[in-house]
Amino acid sequence: KTVFVLNGPNLNLLGTREPAVYGAHTLADVGQMCAAACARHGLALRFHQSNHEGVLLDWIHEAGRLHAAGDLAGVVLNAGAYTHTSIALADAIKGTGVTLVELHISNVFARESFRHHSYLSAVARAVMCGFGVQGYGLAIDALAQMQAAA
Ligand code: DQA
Repeated sequence: KTVFVLNGPNLNLLGTREPAVYGAHTLADVGQMCAAACARHGLALRFHQSNHEGVLLDWIHEAGRLHAAGDLAGVVLNAGAYTHTSIALADAIKGTGVTLVELHISNVFARESFRHHSYLSAVARAVMCGFGVQGYGLAIDALAQMQAAA
């Protein structure tokens, strides 16, 4: 089965973007961590980043087609600031029925109050928040365990 790891706006800047908040690892490093985690569990990986909401929607729809075919383990989505604004992303998750792990590198609840609300949490199976970039590997481990338990 396949895991989609989708990254939204500004995550291409990881490594140089507010390192005190997001750490020193680059998005390429995160991609390698995800590849290692998927390899541990025999899962295939699709790893993407876009600054465009519609492109993220298209990838969720693609994941949804794999889900319908029984070939998807789940979607790990760090939607960045779209987390706090995007009804469209929430509708896509609900409409496709994909298993979602919502992910945030930082602990959004320890930050500004506008980061405390997420449109995605209500349609997520789980939320991974505040574990730094290690959270990506943990989220993939969790999806693999859910597969094993299913
Ligand atoms: C983020 C948290 C969001 O509030 C922010 O807009 C981001 C990154 C995180 O990974 O901690 O872009 O999703």
